[in-house]
Amino acid sequence: MSEQPAIGGRTPLPVEVTAGEEYWWCACGRSKNQPFCDGSHEGTGFEPMQFVAPESKRVFFCTCKRTKTMPLCDGSHKELPASDS
Ligand code: FES
Repeated sequence: MSEQPAIGGRTPLPVEVTAGEEYWWCACGRSKNQPFCDGSHEGTGFEPMQFVAPESKRVFFCTCKRTKTMPLCDGSHKELPASDS
């Protein structure tokens, strides 16, 4: 049985990223600094995912951790159960 990450949020977060800059996306869903890692994955078996911005623009990072196009939102948050946490 594979463990699911926690739901870090229910909507994506827009971030103005800078070309060539590195961002660390929270994969465990526990970070208090969504959508980015704050070290809360310690001991969960999850590791943050590196994202290097290919260009300077606004991107929408997934916070629900159910996206299939990590670390960016693919609309999967719309399928979340209403009261799952
Ligand atoms: S916030 Fe996770 S898929 Fe949209």
